[in-house]
Amino acid sequence: MSDQTGRREQSHRHDQTRRRSSMRTAVVWQVLHEALDRRARTVGRDVLDVLDAGGGTGNLAVPIARLGHRVTVVDPSPDALAALERRAAEAGVTSLVRACQGDTHGLFDVVEPDAADVVLCHGVLEVVEDPAGDLAHIVRALRAGGTLSLLAANRTGAVLARALAGHFEQARHVLGDPDGRWGTADPMPRRFAVADLIDLVAKAGLEAGPVHAIRVFADLVPGVLVDDPASFDALLALEHAAAEQPEYRALATQLHLLATKSGG
Ligand SMILES: C[S@@+](CC[C@H](N)C(=O)[O-])C[C@H]1O[C@@H](n2cnc3c(N)ncnc32)[C@H](O)[C@@H]1O
Repeated sequence: MSDQTGRREQSHRHDQTRRRSSMRTAVVWQVLHEALDRRARTVGRDVLDVLDAGGGTGNLAVPIARLGHRVTVVDPSPDALAALERRAAEAGVTSLVRACQGDTHGLFDVVEPDAADVVLCHGVLEVVEDPAGDLAHIVRALRAGGTLSLLAANRTGAVLARALAGHFEQARHVLGDPDGRWGTADPMPRRFAVADLIDLVAKAGLEAGPVHAIRVFADLVPGVLVDDPASFDALLALEHAAAEQPEYRALATQLHLLATKSGG
């Protein structure tokens, strides 16, 4: 392979990764960005204190810091935190991003309670031992009136995805499994229904806002349609439109929920 062909392939792969990543995060990012703006207007401050519990490598923490907010990421993985620090440096937001090794169970070993305007809990309740207990800690980290952004895997979406992939027994297994898993080899420890998430946030003392359907079509259509610049924009516009419509929640890979702590 010539150097030029190698560079072209590398650039193609880079574009592909960027498009797939933006397809995964675009709807959540739009809802979250609007929530941050609303919270900043309500509290009358341009700079918010944001906690990303289980924020990993900073998929959202770095873009939030680029908006000028202070973000603390708590995650048990030193590798993820090292990647986060590299990304923050590349984006020129090192001074706004604090990486803390810790977890939701021992959250107050590393952060103060009642100190965050917005808390993200994305892709974490699926993996922790005690989702209700850990969510209670996460809520304690919020100031009165603060906003929780919760993203979790959707159990009904998993039924559809397994069935469309021809794995009918696995699809049926998800239907009856208390954790919404398709079998012992399923890498996802737990999935939630809309009612589960609404119940969890209500029990944690929050008022639930709208639930958004995340990745309704993107994980079901052939990957080439996500990679193809000609179909990417139309697919993304479809995802944005469907996210708002309650009927499509059942099909989504993930569910996103905003919830508010009383007071403030
Ligand atoms: C699916 S990733 C999601 C990362 C990030 N929130 C995102 O949406 O891109 C799950 C993350 O949760 C972290 N994690 C696992 N157990 C945790 C716990 N008990 N408390 C906090 N984070 C945890 C993992 O290290 C990993 O970074």
